[in-house]
Amino acid sequence: MTDVSENIKRMNSTLEAMLSHRSVRSFTEEPISPEMLEAVLEAGRAASTSNYMQSVSIIRITDPQQRIKFHQISNGMSEEEYNKAKSEGKKLAHQYILECPEYLVFCMDNYRHQLVEPEAQLDWMEVVLISAVDAGLYAQNVLAAAESLGLGGVYIGSMRNDIERAGEVIKAPKHVVPLFGMCLGHPSDSPVNATQKPRFPLSMLVSENEYKPATQQQIDAFNETVKSYYEQRGSDNHQAWEAQVTKTFATAVRPQVMPYLNKQGYAKR
Ligand SMILES: Cc1cc2nc3c(=O)[nH]c(=O)nc-3n(C[C@H](O)[C@H](O)[C@H](O)COP(=O)(O)O)c2cc1C
Repeated sequence: MTDVSENIKRMNSTLEAMLSHRSVRSFTEEPISPEMLEAVLEAGRAASTSNYMQSVSIIRITDPQQRIKFHQISNGMSEEEYNKAKSEGKKLAHQYILECPEYLVFCMDNYRHQLVEPEAQLDWMEVVLISAVDAGLYAQNVLAAAESLGLGGVYIGSMRNDIERAGEVIKAPKHVVPLFGMCLGHPSDSPVNATQKPRFPLSMLVSENEYKPATQQQIDAFNETVKSYYEQRGSDNHQAWEAQVTKTFATAVRPQVMPYLNKQGYAKR
């Protein structure tokens, strides 16, 4: 995926692990040892945090019944729809939520802040940015640490298909909002051999002193890169990147999120 000098990569195992990232969605049954789990959670704890606020909590979902609820949520199904689909033998997406040894739910959390400062103005949009960035930084340290130990994982944003229900499942009080999940475990295939999913080249991502808009040529070139990636992967779907943008953003984007944020005391001004 990258053009980083082989010499630098070889010199530095952190960089090598980070540059080898692929999402892993299939796991062996081997549990993650308590030592490994503690190490990766500690790596998250060491991440930078805005204003030292540490506006994050992690919930380990170990109860199989709760896993099923998160599986329903990610499939956008009520319990009834899910049971019906199961009884009809329908293949459901996101099987890895049920099968991964660890499923973590990352929450933005200012519950503690409101305890120490009852007048805390947590309803500003800025607090959502502070807390969501904190949760993302914590989570990415967890995933990078896990990958450095030979584990694999994948983020689960589809938890926000029904963010309110996700909040109910974890009994989130006001000022706690589940943002995304993460499956972790020992990879059952060999992700290291799988082709990495392409990213925009640095020439599209980084500019100097001022913002450089992408050109149509750059976008066309990236579309071709993505199509060949899917072809190479043997996928039936040789979608260009732009088709995925349309699929993601051409209709309302999880409109239920804003009312839930408001309900939890956030994003009112
Ligand atoms: C916040 C976030 C949410 C995601 N949600 C999901 C998800 O619900 N299901 C899934 O299979 N992958 C999910 N992913 C993984 C992305 O699809 C994946 O990172 C992206 O396609 C790039 O592939 P790679 O990680 O293998 O390089 C999510 C990633 C992020 C960062």
